[in-house]
Amino acid sequence: MSVDVVVGLQWGDEGKGKISYVLSRGAEAVARFQGGANAGHTVKIGETRYKFNMLPAGCLAGPRPVIASGCLLDPEAFEKELQLLQTSGHRHQPLVSMGAHIVLPMHRELDGRLESLRGSSAVGTTRRGIGPAYADKMLRVGIRVGDLLSRRSLGEKVEFLRRLHGVEPGVDFEKLEKLLRPFAGNVQGFLNEVVESGGRVLLEGAQGTLLDIDHGTYPYVTSSNTISANGFVSTGLPISRKGQIIGVTKAYTTRVGAGPFPTEITGPTAETIREKGGEYGTTTGRPRRIGWLDIPALRYACMVNGVDTVAVTKSDVLSGLPTVKACVRYVVDGVETNCFGDFLHRLDEVQPVYEEFRGWSVDEDGLRRAVEKGWDELPPNLREYLEWLEKQLRVNISIASVGEEASLTVTRR
Ligand code: IMP
Repeated sequence: MSVDVVVGLQWGDEGKGKISYVLSRGAEAVARFQGGANAGHTVKIGETRYKFNMLPAGCLAGPRPVIASGCLLDPEAFEKELQLLQTSGHRHQPLVSMGAHIVLPMHRELDGRLESLRGSSAVGTTRRGIGPAYADKMLRVGIRVGDLLSRRSLGEKVEFLRRLHGVEPGVDFEKLEKLLRPFAGNVQGFLNEVVESGGRVLLEGAQGTLLDIDHGTYPYVTSSNTISANGFVSTGLPISRKGQIIGVTKAYTTRVGAGPFPTEITGPTAETIREKGGEYGTTTGRPRRIGWLDIPALRYACMVNGVDTVAVTKSDVLSGLPTVKACVRYVVDGVETNCFGDFLHRLDEVQPVYEEFRGWSVDEDGLRRAVEKGWDELPPNLREYLEWLEKQLRVNISIASVGEEASLTVTRR
């Protein structure tokens, strides 16, 4: 069987957790492949809301949760989520790669210090220690899960970090070893075996394409590659096993933290969307910045991920607005363009050009009907918007998530 990848096409918070949950049904394993506890993936099943920062949210649908080598393991978040798994009645033991690097309290402290030093150019990080922990990885001085278990020269490594950063690591390594030993293992071997024996694997991206360290709005990005290709790099699954790449976008755009955002809006419409959509960071509680859909940015995201199909979330949040807008191109230096990639380095200079659409209204009953009967039962104006979007992206839309609860999902046949 093949390996499917779910990725965010915007600046994160697209609703990947729910889509991953829906697509994880019938999979044998679901893996996080980058980032750490900076991610916030929520799934609402019935009346219960599950929030994950570390484990892949898709595991709630049954598959074994895996944390691959390219992730940063945050022990505190991991321990909390083990309990969450137990209460949800999950039957598999998570598997954590020996190669995953550990985020130490020291890294969080450094993250905070770096942000303060940057002053008015602060990135607006989640302060979860992500940048400093990945920096230590690249400096080849980080502590990996495997280092804890072998304990060989662990003392020296810790002492080196203490000297390098001038900060105490702030953790009891013996306790950490006890916590992680039962879960540590050979992720490359396990995932390849699953695929070879006919099982399906889903890779759950975190953050979003525009936060990718190489392909995003640098320096206002996270410290890892968020795009689909990294799913293979991080897990050790060969790219020849690639199945479907599923790109997730909201019906509008949000961003949390600093950085350019061409379609950003403020005022009453933004407030309405923020309140209705619960647009506050899952990890930090910060209010998210709100904007209209950005077609050049989405087209770019589909391109760099190789998106095969798109899932659109939260169109219900826009319900009741008289009109809805989407940016179709930019004006830069008086010239019109629809190429996002050409202006990635000076995105704060582009002016959006909008197309306007008639709004739609949906209530709970209407949504349930669409879920039962399918795509054609969606309100006509919403369908028109989604079908227009599909043409713009030249990729089919196969899922419309129309509410927070997991079952409020319209799958197109
Ligand atoms: P970091 O990943 O904590 O270093 O933060 C870098 C940037 O990525 C900041 O703008 C964060 O707000 C943003 N970011 C990190 N994780 C997420 C996420 O899961 N959703 C949305 N934004 C995120």
